[in-house]
Amino acid sequence: MMWSKAFVLSLQVACATTCAAEASSPVNSTLPSIDVELTPILDVVNYTGINGELVMDIHFANNETLLVLPLEMANAPSAQYTTETLEAWDCLGQLRLTQSDGTGSDSQPSRFWAVQRATQGPVVVRFKAKPYQIDPNAMVGPLFDIRSNGDGLLGSTWALVPLPPDNTAQYQFSLRWNLKHSPQDAKAAWTWGEGPAPVTISGTSATFLYTFWAVGSMSAYPSDSDSKPLSPDYSMYWLEQPPFDVDTIAAFVDKFFNYSSIFWKDTNGEPYRVFIRHNQETGTGGTALLRSFTFGWHDANSTAEDKLELLLSHEITHNWPQINDVNAAGTRYAEGTAEYYSLRLLWRNNQISTETYLSEMNARLKTYYLNPYVNLTDEDAYDQAWEARQAQTIPYGRGLIYLTNLDAQMRAVSNSDGRESLDTIVLELLDICRASSSQCTEVQLLKLLEKYLGQEGVEEYHAVSTGQPLIQPLEDSLGPCFEVIETQTNPAVFQWRFRDGKDASSEDCLI
Ligand SMILES: *[C@@H]1O[C@H](CO)[C@@H](O)[C@H](O)[C@H]1NC(C)=O
Ligand SMILES: *[C@@H]1O[C@H](CO)[C@@H](O)[C@H](O)[C@H]1NC(C)=O
Ligand SMILES: *[C@@H]1O[C@H](CO)[C@@H](O)[C@H](O)[C@H]1NC(C)=O
Ligand SMILES: *[C@@H]1O[C@H](CO)[C@@H](O)[C@H](O)[C@H]1NC(C)=O
Ligand SMILES: *[C@@H]1O[C@H](CO)[C@@H](O)[C@H](O)[C@H]1NC(C)=O
Ligand SMILES: *[C@@H]1O[C@H](CO)[C@@H](O)[C@H](O)[C@H]1NC(C)=O
Repeated sequence: MMWSKAFVLSLQVACATTCAAEASSPVNSTLPSIDVELTPILDVVNYTGINGELVMDIHFANNETLLVLPLEMANAPSAQYTTETLEAWDCLGQLRLTQSDGTGSDSQPSRFWAVQRATQGPVVVRFKAKPYQIDPNAMVGPLFDIRSNGDGLLGSTWALVPLPPDNTAQYQFSLRWNLKHSPQDAKAAWTWGEGPAPVTISGTSATFLYTFWAVGSMSAYPSDSDSKPLSPDYSMYWLEQPPFDVDTIAAFVDKFFNYSSIFWKDTNGEPYRVFIRHNQETGTGGTALLRSFTFGWHDANSTAEDKLELLLSHEITHNWPQINDVNAAGTRYAEGTAEYYSLRLLWRNNQISTETYLSEMNARLKTYYLNPYVNLTDEDAYDQAWEARQAQTIPYGRGLIYLTNLDAQMRAVSNSDGRESLDTIVLELLDICRASSSQCTEVQLLKLLEKYLGQEGVEEYHAVSTGQPLIQPLEDSLGPCFEVIETQTNPAVFQWRFRDGKDASSEDCLI
């Protein structure tokens, strides 16, 4: 038993009051509320953890599933509560819970807790999470798990907070922080806002869960002494000082975020937050969720600043172009567009030179062509992604080359006016996604390909996913200043190079 008697007593008193109040006042049923309080434990010797309390103004029938939490998210472990570390009460006292494991609606292996009687009044759930102790020899995975870093903790909300299984219902969520067991200078940040005061947001469980948080002795950009960032809603947090100049990188990403927001017609002022994690395991990389991503670094070797700026720009681009298919097609579109648009928009925004653009594009092509998994289908690369690191990068390279070709084809069909390009398709698809998340799928992407390029466009899309024959960049795929050459055979490698007589500094090269 993890909870003190005093807590249970005080809970029953609170409940009695709430039940009485509910009975006598008319219910203002806007949205059902789910209020979360998180208490990091950072001041106890040899124990670091985070305690949570969930108050749900929701009724559950006998045997109904109260909560679900994935056990793993793309192989990254969640808090994996048991009936020892997760307990629930309502007005009538403690709720006995039946725990079972299965598959969640998000396709992740998940744990479910059902109530053994109908609930009465608000339901209170308490849980105790501990940071995941990673084996330093493990391969770096997606950054969803809960980690200890410096004098603090960070992770995804998905790994930490169990919620009712209905993933279509709308709720009014709030998240607040109790910092009584945190260092004096502790700060708390969540994708949707900074703590410790409650941050509220309405939406489905995905709105709440597909987010990141960090708490503890934390540095931030902009810091109190910095000038205002370019984008008023952009910020960055880190619990351990990385070996690179975070402020320079933060300012670079700020500039990119600002330009990208305008390109993607996203100027609603929603926040965007970047969390930086130190990885005990070897590896550098990022994982994006809603309006935020977490970037992990390991040591000074893996973190050249110019490469980091590109990596972070890639992650931030995931904020916009995507389709909701949780499969190989969704991955190729997301990674291909993130590769394509992070570099293309940095180039258009003069944050990288034409030479850098060319060399970065060529480096990505070379990585693709030399990948031992280059012949895998999209499907097989997707299935092997978390076991074989290089298989994981197949959709990045293949997606990038495919989209670069698609851009050339779009520019070709729009003849001389040059009005159409890949931008036309991705922005049109993004409009569809904004209007309806259920329409935000590969089916709509294929419709757009057919609309602009006919059946041939659709067939080519499918052919590319088989991995063979090897995809090659089209001759004019990078615009007027570049041509394609085969720089080696067996394995074949294709690269772009400047055409004779073209001046890299010319504005005409920019597409
Ligand atoms: C419910 O609360 C909302 C917001 O506080 C308020 O605007 C609305 O008028 C209330 N509705 C009723 C029926 O009391
Ligand atoms: C904390 O852990 C260290 C190392 O395992 C041990 O020597 C020490 O006694 C522990 N302290 C407490 C208060 O448990
Ligand atoms: C409780 O729910 C589970 C899962 O939905 C179901 O398999 C089981 O038969 C139910 N038990 C009772 C007593 O209704
Ligand atoms: C971009 O920067 C400008 C200048 O600071 C600012 O006015 C604008 O709100 C920013 N837009 C976004 C979406 O960040
Ligand atoms: C960094 O790389 C060098 C050369 O590859 C290697 O000798 C060194 O051990 C690496 N440093 C760390 C911290 O891994
Ligand atoms: C991919 O397939 C081609 C021919 O289909 C073959 O020549 C090449 O060696 C294969 N590459 C790898 C890495 O297996």
